[in-house]
Amino acid sequence: MKTMRATALTSFREEIEAVVTAASYAPSIHDTQPWHWLVGDRRLDLFADPSRLLGAVDPDGRQLLISCGAALYYARIALRLRGFVPDVVVLPGGPGYGGLHRDLAGKEPLATIRVNAAKPADCWERSLGAAAYLGHAGHAGRGPIEPTTDMTGAVAALQDAAGLEGAWLATLDDTGDDDHLATGPTPLAGDRRDGQNAVAVLGTAADRPIDRMTAGQALARVLLTATALGVPACPIGHAQDIDAIRVTLREILRSTGTVQMVIRLGPPLPGGVLGEPAPRRPLSEILTIAG
Ligand SMILES: Cc1cc2nc3c(=O)[nH]c(=O)nc-3n(C[C@H](O)[C@H](O)[C@H](O)COP(=O)(O)O)c2cc1C
Repeated sequence: MKTMRATALTSFREEIEAVVTAASYAPSIHDTQPWHWLVGDRRLDLFADPSRLLGAVDPDGRQLLISCGAALYYARIALRLRGFVPDVVVLPGGPGYGGLHRDLAGKEPLATIRVNAAKPADCWERSLGAAAYLGHAGHAGRGPIEPTTDMTGAVAALQDAAGLEGAWLATLDDTGDDDHLATGPTPLAGDRRDGQNAVAVLGTAADRPIDRMTAGQALARVLLTATALGVPACPIGHAQDIDAIRVTLREILRSTGTVQMVIRLGPPLPGGVLGEPAPRRPLSEILTIAG
């Protein structure tokens, strides 16, 4: 009996470590990996790690929260790969919670995950999970992109991915004809499916902490979907933080929502290379197992 219990505890610990390891491959601002996981009584809590805030480029922690949202999505898909159904509460302290003062002090979780049910992962979830294990989701590298690649089918799938997480994705091109992009307060923009789109924007209805967590989960789902479809993608985070970019994008999109991320889509030019994955923080820095 003692042995059985020890075995069960060991495998629980191994499962948790595998999930947190998978989550650590999520994209993050300047590869800061600004998260910490705490395992409690049958729950896994995600915290922001305030020591990883880049105050100069991300003063109010918007991109930090997006990064944590991305790690949350990676944890969700890692649990699904193992046949668990995660029951997730984002910002249990309320949708406005997660501001600099409270969350960044690491006192309350950004999200709580419980697992109460089991169901095998479906085919598409397995594809997304496999993409996460590449450890390098969709990153196109930072060089020039092949502009003539037809993205028509991929863009539709990426829009669906963003929408399923409560965000929206629209594409920009250089035709100057963006009339049919967003109108209204929260653009479900982007029925633009005419291919040759190298730049997409990911947005949310507003810019509260909960919207930033939504943006992070949507970013992760979009990047994993892009990877699963073989489309290199590279996120650019400061779309909202630089006034000129924010205003310009808002004008182009005719949107009153919040552009959270720009995502470059497409393969590098011939001779260009995809970037190498950055090293991840060791589990000892990002995971605490209580008890
Ligand atoms: C909120 C956020 C902002 C990011 N901003 C940029 C950016 O402006 N430029 C860029 O090349 N990559 C950006 N990235 C991607 C990160 O640099 C990348 O996730 C990190 O370096 C790890 O890369 P790897 O997964 O290829 O190892 C961003 C990622 C996130 C989540």
